[in-house]
Amino acid sequence: MRVALYPGSFDPITYGHLDILKRAKRLFDKLIVAVVENPRKAPLFTATERRWLVEQALAEEGITGVEVITYSGLLIECAKELGVAAVVRGLRATSDFDYEFQLALTNRDLDSDIESVFLMTAGQYSFLSSSIVKEVKQYGGDVSKFVPTCVERALAEKFGQPGPGGKTKK
Ligand code: PNS
Repeated sequence: MRVALYPGSFDPITYGHLDILKRAKRLFDKLIVAVVENPRKAPLFTATERRWLVEQALAEEGITGVEVITYSGLLIECAKELGVAAVVRGLRATSDFDYEFQLALTNRDLDSDIESVFLMTAGQYSFLSSSIVKEVKQYGGDVSKFVPTCVERALAEKFGQPGPGGKTKK
């Protein structure tokens, strides 16, 4: 069985992540989404919240059969422990390449048995990032085209704004 790991900060998950996830699901027998506990930047959501949002987003989009975990420490250790064949990452634009190149070659140096596989995101999400979504929402913008409703609601709560239905959570 070909198992792949789809790691990330997912702070929060966006439609861009879900696009890559659906593509990876078609290529592998099993897909595991791995939410890193300590991302490089201080996250808006805790690891538990980020994992919960991934699970809620999958349910909202009707995507089944995907395992969601959190991990701390080295990605390649997590991949080795799970016995995955590949680590899947999404590419949006050439701006991603240097960073992904560094991750991939470092991981290969740490464990050459695990390949990094890159999937091109859909054009409509090629500009999207969790950071830009948070910024738009923080300043009151509409992110409904960028994230599932569960994520939009969680962002509204974080920023003390009314939820998608216009109600502020009591
Ligand atoms: O969504 P992101 O922030 O681009 O994901 C980056 C992530 C989490 C995959 C990467 O930072 C990571 O795996 N961090 C765990 C620590 C690690 O393995 N670092 C060395 C990577 S070569």
